[in-house]
Amino acid sequence: MVSQKTNNNPSRDFAVHRIAVVGGDGIGPEVIAEALKVVDASGVKLAITNFDLGGARYLRDGEILSDPTLAELRKFDAILLGAVGTPAVAPGIIERGLLLKMRFELDLYINRRPFAGVGPGQTKPHDFIVIRENTEGPYVGEGGVLRRGTPHEIATQGSVNTAKGVERCVRYAFELAMTRKRKHVTLVHKTNVLTFAGDLWQRTFDRVAQEFPNVVTAYNHIDAACIYFVQDPQRYDVIVTDNLFGDILTDLGGAVSGGIGVASSANLNPSRSGPSMFEPVHGSAPDIAGKGVANPIAAILSAAHMLEFLGETKASEALRRACVETVSGSTIEVGDEIARRVKASI
Ligand code: IPM
Ligand code: MN
Repeated sequence: MVSQKTNNNPSRDFAVHRIAVVGGDGIGPEVIAEALKVVDASGVKLAITNFDLGGARYLRDGEILSDPTLAELRKFDAILLGAVGTPAVAPGIIERGLLLKMRFELDLYINRRPFAGVGPGQTKPHDFIVIRENTEGPYVGEGGVLRRGTPHEIATQGSVNTAKGVERCVRYAFELAMTRKRKHVTLVHKTNVLTFAGDLWQRTFDRVAQEFPNVVTAYNHIDAACIYFVQDPQRYDVIVTDNLFGDILTDLGGAVSGGIGVASSANLNPSRSGPSMFEPVHGSAPDIAGKGVANPIAAILSAAHMLEFLGETKASEALRRACVETVSGSTIEVGDEIARRVKASI
């Protein structure tokens, strides 16, 4: 497959990666346009197919993410997504029907979210990556409701944790730690209360750790981790945690690392049995859509993840470097400046 060519391949200049682009709703299309502009400046060639999906499309003709569309998406090397969701659609419909369906159906079992910066009130920088399990936990939707709307209503919502699902996530975190300077992994959970799921996570973590004698390990309860994110974020290198804890913790990670406008993510299928999906952590922000003020950095950094995963290491590093020094201005001005820096450094 063309996309498997790497920088070491002499024919690299001819490698064209086939990318499905879902601009989505609100600021999604605006920030994705800048991300694509910046990738173009890096010299990496993308063959882009736009998919009109999201809340607006759903309101128009009812399509959220049909099976034929999903089958189309499977043919691509990667998916770049802006943001989906609009206030005109009830919560849960687009999230479950599009975003979570993609994560589950494409088996994007790792949600990788890096955070670097100097937190509020901190003097020293932090630099850590949260590895969030992305296909299990409460997100599976186990549970149900009985006698809804009556005084006798019963609602249950379970958390699904499989030995296979937990192990592949934990293993990914250890392998990632091995590539980093500190070689340190922290398991974050709530083993003192969620004793069934917590026990599976802890035992799996301890067992996998034995295979990585060079990796130093730690454990924090989720509530304590929230304090450390604010008061002592330098303690972290790689964090591994379940789907829901990871969701909450990564918003806090964004808040202490320059804001959600710069928080990027990679939804990965490391086995590469299909495309992985790359998206900013932020949502569609309908309140600022169309005003040209959205920060495209999170989308640009998500494109950097994508380039890294496609083997375009040099271009990916150039994108990341270009985003280190802050830029201000409109969405387009920020994109232009980052593109200029990338071009100059490649
Ligand atoms: C995220 C988002 C999603 C999640 C929502 C939109 C379903 O908050 O990617 O963090 O909860 O995973
Ligand atoms: Mn979230």
